[in-house]
Amino acid sequence: MKILIINGPNLNLLGSREPGTYGSETFDSYFQKLKENFPEVELTYFQSNIEGELINKLQAADKEVDGIILNAAAYTHTSIGIGDAVKAITTPVVEVHISNTSAREEFRHRSFIAPNAKGVILGFGLQSYKLALYSFL
Ligand code: DQA
Repeated sequence: MKILIINGPNLNLLGSREPGTYGSETFDSYFQKLKENFPEVELTYFQSNIEGELINKLQAADKEVDGIILNAAAYTHTSIGIGDAVKAITTPVVEVHISNTSAREEFRHRSFIAPNAKGVILGFGLQSYKLALYSFL
């Protein structure tokens, strides 16, 4: 099984960015552990701060992987383009968030991705990614 994790803007700063909200572990460190815990899964990872690059990656990954775990970060709440890309492709996408966006500012309650996602997991810290992975197994 091939699963691609896509992270959006500012998630390259995990580990140092607002540790009270996002924890103090880097994504690279977490990703290594995830790969060790799921040796049967072919896991790949892509991060970009650029909206169009995230859309390009979603399009390129379509039918190449069995599932996509997408944390579009702030673009979740603003990007009709990413929402449309998730709708356009046939590979299932699970939306994840590290923080519980529903418990945060009003502008984080809206998602342009959720209506076209297979499901949404939020609020479990980095473990949100592991829970999303389980949803594909
Ligand atoms: C986030 C939540 C978003 O609202 C925020 O803009 C992020 C991270 C999360 O994983 O909790 O950058 O997607």
